[in-house]
Amino acid sequence: MTRTLITGGFGFIGRYLAQMLADSGGEVVLLDILSDDAFVQQSTGQVTSLKGSLANWAEVMDAVVTAKPDQVVHSGAMLPPTSEATPQAAFEVNITGTYNILEAARLCDIKQVVYASSVASFGPDAPRDLVPNDFAQHPTSMYGVSKVCSERLGEYYHRRFNLDFRAVRFPPIFGLGRAASSGLTAFTSVAVEEAALGRPFAMPVVPETPTGVLYIRDAARSLMDIAAADNASLTHRCYNLHGFVVTAQELADAIRRHVPDAQVSFDPDDQITTFIRSIPQKLDDRLARTDWGWQPVFNLDEAVADFVKTTRHPNIP
Ligand SMILES: NC(=O)c1ccc[n+]([C@@H]2O[C@H](COP(=O)([O-])OP(=O)(O)OC[C@H]3O[C@@H](n4cnc5c(N)ncnc54)[C@H](O)[C@@H]3O)[C@@H](O)[C@H]2O)c1
Repeated sequence: MTRTLITGGFGFIGRYLAQMLADSGGEVVLLDILSDDAFVQQSTGQVTSLKGSLANWAEVMDAVVTAKPDQVVHSGAMLPPTSEATPQAAFEVNITGTYNILEAARLCDIKQVVYASSVASFGPDAPRDLVPNDFAQHPTSMYGVSKVCSERLGEYYHRRFNLDFRAVRFPPIFGLGRAASSGLTAFTSVAVEEAALGRPFAMPVVPETPTGVLYIRDAARSLMDIAAADNASLTHRCYNLHGFVVTAQELADAIRRHVPDAQVSFDPDDQITTFIRSIPQKLDDRLARTDWGWQPVFNLDEAVADFVKTTRHPNIP
């Protein structure tokens, strides 16, 4: 039975991943600065938690020694806008935190660290339509810088210490549990959640604005899939992922197909529209498909249907 330590385990992605790993018979230990006993108790399978900060070496080392995991999925981070409001704290959590995890894994002989990187690791010079896996990463945000730095640190530990480091670069993730405050791309998730709960929602962008997203269940499963991939077939340590591109109008239409009485309208904000348009729509994920068989399962309608069902009948997470 594989024992997995998930950093940021009480986060949006961490919760789905924890439940999927537990459902597949794994043992899961969550490391977070938060605690949520209700989530741990409701989880089916073997899920426990430890409280500690990624930024604190002693707490990370303590957690790794206590959990004795076979693998670590490192998804704990400080996300925008908090990372940009407090860049010094973001450095400590996202860069020192990754170093602490890699070094603790090395000292404790943990074989594998899987890392959740981001489209934000690419900068404003990246093509909007399709970003090649190996496109130069020149981010201008502290969050993006921390993602590139973590990827390079992981590759260094792989080369220097033979640590089995693997990473996926997520586009914005779409699904129940994405907090409204978790960056400007969160509106796609909030729109579906509000509709499913019978509340009105105004999209903050013009209807034609496209966003590339990945459904949360595909995102969580990708971390399991890359962890299980045959090392011999990996030509890279860091892989772009993509789900589907949806305009705000197409999302509103899909919501109405699944929630016929949904009150979705548009109240475009120029700044938000410009920001969303500046994010690459598609990360070229062909390398992930070829090397380890990556394949998203959920298209727009399947994702919205599952999202509405999960919102109305919340199981776990
Ligand atoms: N959600 C997205 O759209 C998205 C897109 C691309 C990449 N990612 C990456 O995926 C990972 C998970 O993102 P998420 O959406 O679940 O974010 P989230 O904010 O929901 O979860 C992050 C978790 O990390 C925890 N955390 C924060 N500071 C910590 C610290 N000092 N020590 C320990 N834990 C700490 C938080 O409490 C939270 O539970 C992150 O690395 C993020 O950068 C997310």
